[in-house]
Amino acid sequence: HKIAVMFGGHSAEREVSLRSGQAVLNALLEQGIDAHGFDPAEQPLLNLQRDGYDQVLIMLHGRGGEDGSLQGLLEQLHIPYTGSGVLGSALGMDKVRTKQIIQTLGLPTATYRVVHKSSYDAGSCKDIMTSFGGAIMVKPALEGSSIGMAKVTTAEQLQQAIQDAFNYDKQVLLEQYIEGDEFTVSILHDKALPSIRMSTPREFYDYQAKYQADSTQYFCPSGADEATEALLGELALAAFKAVGASGWGRVDFMRDSNGQLYILEVNTVPGMTAKSLVPMAAKTAGLTFNQLVLAILATAGL
Ligand code: DAL
Ligand code: MG
Repeated sequence: HKIAVMFGGHSAEREVSLRSGQAVLNALLEQGIDAHGFDPAEQPLLNLQRDGYDQVLIMLHGRGGEDGSLQGLLEQLHIPYTGSGVLGSALGMDKVRTKQIIQTLGLPTATYRVVHKSSYDAGSCKDIMTSFGGAIMVKPALEGSSIGMAKVTTAEQLQQAIQDAFNYDKQVLLEQYIEGDEFTVSILHDKALPSIRMSTPREFYDYQAKYQADSTQYFCPSGADEATEALLGELALAAFKAVGASGWGRVDFMRDSNGQLYILEVNTVPGMTAKSLVPMAAKTAGLTFNQLVLAILATAGL
């Protein structure tokens, strides 16, 4: 049984993927599995077929690996792969569609609007700021790891942030900033793992806070009371299923000072670096990193 661990790739999250993928590849090799690293930035995807891989463990973050396009190719090649299928991957990658779906289903999510590069009028920033009436998170629709994101409180900042976000995507999500704690719920074999609470002295849980800063604090167990923990798990699974995701993943939340939860987004190939969240939740649930990786591999072809 020959396994390809795909990581690296061309997306803005390449560096994160290299770290996730290397950790996962090492875990498989340590357990005597015939696993090989495969970086689509270094060799043609069709080598997967030529080289006789039986299964693919996808550790590519962002577009080209997490967005359904690779999943579609692997379907066509009849090679089983880990995690979500074409639809779940495509919707999970898209923060705007994810919000539209979860809002339609009555799941809690912060107020938002969308700006499109083709119809955007910089003159509208003042009105937008007024209509939100508070800080706004600006997010490219199709990115991960907080890349291209900003928190803004003035029309000038909003205009600059939208312009910056358009460098990453022609569709930009503007979302009411929720003051409070950030939570995340990992999902493995369609079950919720214990939630994690993150706390950062930075403006928000950005790329630095995620991968570089030592000042980020993680709490797992999160300290949420029993009812909140149960609700986090239910909402995470509901959002995960709503976008058609499956196998494993992670759903991110904010909780405001009144205890109200807001779903931010669904990640279908969450980070697996030393600082990442799914391994932390798995550990609290009693799973070692090696066991977690085997469990992820077992989602292939389900
Ligand atoms: N997009 C990053 C890898 C995450 O969700 O962990
Ligand atoms: Mg994400």
